Amino acid sequence: MSIPNPRTVVATRYVTPLREGGSLPGLVEADDLGMYVLKFRGAGQGIKVLVAELIVGELARALGFRVPEIVLADLDPELARAEPDQEVQDLLRASGGLNLGFDYLPGSFDFNPLVRDPGPELAARLLWFDALVLNVDRSWRNPNLLLWHRDVWLIDHGAALYFHHGWSAGWKPSAEYRWDGGDHVMMPVAGSVADADAELKPLVTRDLLGDVLAVVPDAWLVQDGMTPADIRAAYVAYFESRLASSPRWVETLEAARAARV
Ligand SMILES: Nc1ncnc2c1ncn2[C@@H]1O[C@H](COP(=O)(O)OP(=O)(O)OP(=O)(O)O)[C@@H](O)[C@H]1O
Ligand SMILES: [Mg+2]
Repeated sequence: MSIPNPRTVVATRYVTPLREGGSLPGLVEADDLGMYVLKFRGAGQGIKVLVAELIVGELARALGFRVPEIVLADLDPELARAEPDQEVQDLLRASGGLNLGFDYLPGSFDFNPLVRDPGPELAARLLWFDALVLNVDRSWRNPNLLLWHRDVWLIDHGAALYFHHGWSAGWKPSAEYRWDGGDHVMMPVAGSVADADAELKPLVTRDLLGDVLAVVPDAWLVQDGMTPADIRAAYVAYFESRLASSPRWVETLEAARAARV
């Protein structure tokens, strides 16, 4: 199964900033008349945040989670001229070229598993997935899940794969990564994480990882003295190492689940 390349759209109008959002996401209209939540390359957290969004979003989709369509959004910094707000002007000026867009889900709202039970299987699969990708942004305080048309949609994966902020040529994955599922939004309602592991781990093949990494633009994979091929290989090495150690981290999650009140 190969993953289609993201569509490229051209941003035509900055509509509004989104209320929350440490990464200054904004709602933008594009030349296909679609509305997208844009994560701007000039937002100050660097291109790796967009890379994490793209890799983790497409991997999640390939594993059966619902994720808004992800597009590459070409932005002309001249759009800044139409903006009265200085902060928005600066953001647009710094974001010329390709940015990342997410199909805007109108009428969606923040998902709360205590209000609407997602079911123990989905909850356990999401807990497993976030442990796999080291996503630290799915706490009950800030779940980064949207409820839309009665389904749970995953957003905001820029903080995952955090190890890439510290890598350089010759990097090797660690045997262990710190990831605490204690305040994960699904911990109180998750079913068996061991079952989720048995179901999902076989799906994360080297082929799938190669397909996911192929959708990341080469221009986003030139960092820290590494080539795009080096960087793709480093992500694959990370995933293979993390999957190989899943018996240990799944056991930790199962212990946390058994201890919950
Ligand atoms: N595809 C979407 N459709 C509708 N609303 C969205 C979508 N993506 C994001 N939002 C809204 O915008 C908010 C901010 O988006 P997101 O969480 O991706 O940005 P962020 O800057 O990483 O946020 P934070 O730092 O607050 O977690 C979300 O909490 C949600 O309310
Ligand atoms: Mg968020």
